[in-house]
Amino acid sequence: MPQHRLALCREDFLSWFERYTERTIKEFRMFTREDRILVAISGGKDSLALWHVLRKLGYSADGFYLHLGIGEYSERSREKVEKFAQKLGAKAIILDLREELAGIPELKDLTSREACSVCGLVKRYNFNKVAREQDYSVVATGHNLDDEASSLLANVINWNIKYLGRKYPVLEEEEGFVRKVKPFCKFTEKETALYALLNNIDFIEEECPFSEDASSIFYKEILNSIEERFPGTKLRFYLEYLRKIYPRFREKEKRDLQPCKICGEPSPSEVCPVCRLRERVVNLKGTGRSSTG
Ligand code: FES
Ligand code: ZN
Repeated sequence: MPQHRLALCREDFLSWFERYTERTIKEFRMFTREDRILVAISGGKDSLALWHVLRKLGYSADGFYLHLGIGEYSERSREKVEKFAQKLGAKAIILDLREELAGIPELKDLTSREACSVCGLVKRYNFNKVAREQDYSVVATGHNLDDEASSLLANVINWNIKYLGRKYPVLEEEEGFVRKVKPFCKFTEKETALYALLNNIDFIEEECPFSEDASSIFYKEILNSIEERFPGTKLRFYLEYLRKIYPRFREKEKRDLQPCKICGEPSPSEVCPVCRLRERVVNLKGTGRSSTG
């Protein structure tokens, strides 16, 4: 790991990874052992590894899996999550989006948005709702350094200042929103994959068929080629942003939110985007048409 000037054997890597996770949690004051943590689980390496390491470090962490209704991919990932929960002896809350609203393929056809953007919307909504309703104080996600640095790069290139004011490994709670944290933000994708492999974690290797949009893969590739030439750049790019840039752009004003008049979740408008989606689903069913035509 040139960025840390370290070369470790299996045992030392595992204990280094665990200590480094603990250090990141403390550094950003993400949570303590008094908190009830809900880990958003997809069935992939990052989220399962995160769940594993948090339990190992003695945190009270349950998993939450949202079945997205994406055919075989969702079925297989749900199986992995259920098996892993059993192995950990931990509680996994499972919610089926098809019963709640509709699957991602149907929702995608109902809007002009990309699958991943609708998916992000319903995930954020449900993570927050379930966490609040079931008394969790924190939602933890498995975003790693590659995710964070590549989206930072994309937003810097487009000078998306609003984003620069909100990109931080901890989003404090605010009216109706539970605190959100990313304890893996300083680990590269390789490191989390290695930790999962060395612990024999059985994760889903295939990507979601809608996958990430092509641009984020492209930015990850660019960062990897810079990293190859100048090791340590990826971590430095992200950490220096947190230290020097974020404090300047940090949003000081509270967002203008109100409880959605239908579901009560915090919303930027009278009716939240998810309830608007729900109205469309209901209308469509009323007309007897299937969304796929
Ligand atoms: Fe959300 Fe693929 S996981 S669109
Ligand atoms: Zn609503």
